Amino acid sequence: MENATVKKRILSGIQPSGRLHLGNYLGPLRHWPEMIEEFDCYFFMADLHTITVRQNPADLRRQTLTLLAQYIACGLDPEKCVLFIQSHVPAHSQLSWVLNCYTMFGELSRMTQFKDKSAKNADNINAGLFTYPVLMASDILIYQADMVPVGEDQRQHVEICRDIANRFNGIYGDVFKVPEPYIAKVGARIKSLSAPASKMSKSQPDGCVFLLEKPEDIMRKFKRSVTDSDTERCVRYDPEEKPGVSNLIQIYASATGKTFDEIEAEFDGKGYGVFKPAVGEAVVETLRPIREETERLLADKAYLEGVYRAGAEKAAYVANRTLSKVYKKVGFLAR
Ligand code: TRP
Repeated sequence: MENATVKKRILSGIQPSGRLHLGNYLGPLRHWPEMIEEFDCYFFMADLHTITVRQNPADLRRQTLTLLAQYIACGLDPEKCVLFIQSHVPAHSQLSWVLNCYTMFGELSRMTQFKDKSAKNADNINAGLFTYPVLMASDILIYQADMVPVGEDQRQHVEICRDIANRFNGIYGDVFKVPEPYIAKVGARIKSLSAPASKMSKSQPDGCVFLLEKPEDIMRKFKRSVTDSDTERCVRYDPEEKPGVSNLIQIYASATGKTFDEIEAEFDGKGYGVFKPAVGEAVVETLRPIREETERLLADKAYLEGVYRAGAEKAAYVANRTLSKVYKKVGFLAR
C-alpha cells in the first residue's frame, strides 16, 4: 500500500547584506523554526542577491557566516532543515540564465523594488539589480517549493515568480511547482523607533534594534523612541492617530505573546515613561538567548563549515534534478 505522505516544501532566504534587526526577526524569521517540524524546509543566505549593491568583500564573508549562526541560534536546527549558502549551489545561477529568457523586460521594469533601489543607487543601476527577481524565482522554482515565507515587501517577487513558472509550464508542461507566498500578519510590519512612519531599517540605525546589539544600547533606543504628540498620553493601540505607541505595542505583543487588550490594561494609568522601558526589557530578554547562542556558534567555525557544506550538498542534489529537467525541456543536448 502506498503510504508516503510527502511533506510540503518551504523555502526562503535572507540577504547577508548587513546586520539582522528586530523587524527581520519579528517578521518572517521568527516563524521559520515552527515550520521545520511540519515541512521540508530549505533556508539560505542569498549572497548572490547581495552583490547587486556594492559590498565590501570581507564584510560580506563575515555577514554570511554571522547570518548562518543567527539562523541556527533562532532555532533552525540543521539536523531538521537544510541550511546553505546560495553561491555554493551553482544551479541557482544556471537556472536563472534560462529563466531570464522567459521573463519580459516590461514586467521587470514594473517591479517596485527595482524602482526604489535604482533611485537609491543611481550611480550603480546594474543589470543584476534589474534581473534580481529572476534569480529569486530560480531560487524558489529550482526546489519545487510549495510555500515561500517572506515579509510583505517580497510579495511582488513571489508574484512574478508565479508568472514565470506559469509561462514556462504553459510551454513545456508541468515542470515547476507554482509556489504560494506565506506572509505572517502579526509583527510583519515593525516600524522605526525614531520615525514610526517608515519601516524599521538598518539604514536608519537610531530607530533600528539589531539582533546582536548590547542590552544597554537596546534600552537606550527604546527610552528615546518617538511616541506621539497627542495630549492623551496613554498606551492605546491606534496606528492612525498614535503610530509610535502602536508600533511599541506591536513589538511588546510579539515579544511577550500578550494581546493588545492585555497590554492596554497592563499600562492603564501609567505613562510612556513606564511603558517604553518595559518594551525595551521585553525585547532584551527575547534577544538575549539568540545573541549568546550566535556568539557561541561564531566561535566554532569548524561546526559552521560542516553545516553549510552538508547543506549545500543536500540542496544541490534537489536543485540539479530540476535543472536537468529544464535543460532537457528547452532543448540543450545532454552531455
Ligand atoms: N529577496 C529576498 C529579500 O531581500 C531574499 C531572497 C532571495 C529570497 N531569494 C529568495 C526570499 C527566495 C525568499 C525566496 O528579502
